[in-house]
Amino acid sequence: MTPQSALAPAPLADPFVPQLYRVGRLRRELPDTVTLEVAPLQSRRPAFAPGQFNMLYVFGVGEIAISMSGDAADDVHFVHTVRDVGAVSRAITRLETGATMGLRGPFGVGWPVAAAEGSDVVMVAGGLGLAPLRPAIYHVLANRARYGRVTILVGSRNPHDLLYRQELEAWRQHLDLSIEVTVDHADADWRGNVGVVPGLIPRAIFDAHSTVAFVCGPEVMMRYTVRALLEAGVVSDRIHLSMERNMKCAIGLCGHCQFGPAFVCKDGPVLRFDRIARLYAEREI
Ligand SMILES: Cc1cc2nc3c(=O)[nH]c(=O)nc-3n(C[C@H](O)[C@H](O)[C@H](O)COP(=O)(O)OP(=O)(O)OC[C@H]3O[C@@H](n4cnc5c(N)ncnc54)[C@H](O)[C@@H]3O)c2cc1C
Ligand code: FES
Repeated sequence: MTPQSALAPAPLADPFVPQLYRVGRLRRELPDTVTLEVAPLQSRRPAFAPGQFNMLYVFGVGEIAISMSGDAADDVHFVHTVRDVGAVSRAITRLETGATMGLRGPFGVGWPVAAAEGSDVVMVAGGLGLAPLRPAIYHVLANRARYGRVTILVGSRNPHDLLYRQELEAWRQHLDLSIEVTVDHADADWRGNVGVVPGLIPRAIFDAHSTVAFVCGPEVMMRYTVRALLEAGVVSDRIHLSMERNMKCAIGLCGHCQFGPAFVCKDGPVLRFDRIARLYAEREI
């Protein structure tokens, strides 16, 4: 087999045509959630920015948008973390090592990791929302000196649903990183915080005026998180949310993912809060 490093970078592909990818290592994170490494069959994988997504296609089943959850510096694989919630996501979580699948991407606008340099960074994740934030965490850790205080706040429904548990423990060992994890419902063994993740914000230490916030999770969680960040003094144009909408074309043509004037696939999925604040306040999503 040709080593990946000897392969040419992928030529610019037609964004509508899935490329063939092979499933490599698999890791069952939770009973319903799997992380897969996938690599292209015939070229090196294209570069991506933290926060972008691919369209994953299981032959005969369908195609869905899935964020990258791996390190952008690994130029061999895309890594995706998928929760089984429906037909396509279930088919993806049931793929085995060696299976082939279709993939289009990368698409969208990611986290503003370059613009955040020099600032304190607060990342707030709810449940599976930690997956799209993980590439940004890798980036910030690899370029730690370029950022001020870095705070990661993670919420989970219960201790058993906590994603990337071992990695969270490893990140805790970084003295220049503040990590807090909370669960909505504790069990007898849980010794950490209990309560929803926005509740951690008033206790977190950051310079509100120079803070950039990245938020990803269920929309109700993002709503309360934004409110807590604003109350803490973070400016609305420095708060960024990763939005989920039903996607079809992924390149701003079909209108399926429209959110007011924005197409989530092309203008997002990471959107600056001040640009969507009015719509966000009006719509009960
Ligand atoms: C930019 C973007 C990034 C995404 N990244 C990821 C990711 O990294 N990992 C991931 O697993 N998914 C991610 N999603 C969600 C994914 O694209 C699908 O919407 C989801 O997997 C459901 O697709 P399905 O066809 O399997 O289920 P469907 O048949 O569409 O839905 C089945 C049922 O599940 C419900 N449902 C749909 N989506 C969700 C959800 N996200 N959580 C809970 N219930 C849901 C539906 O309301 C429906 O009742 C992302 C979506 C977008 C737009
Ligand atoms: S998915 Fe078609 S416009 Fe966004």
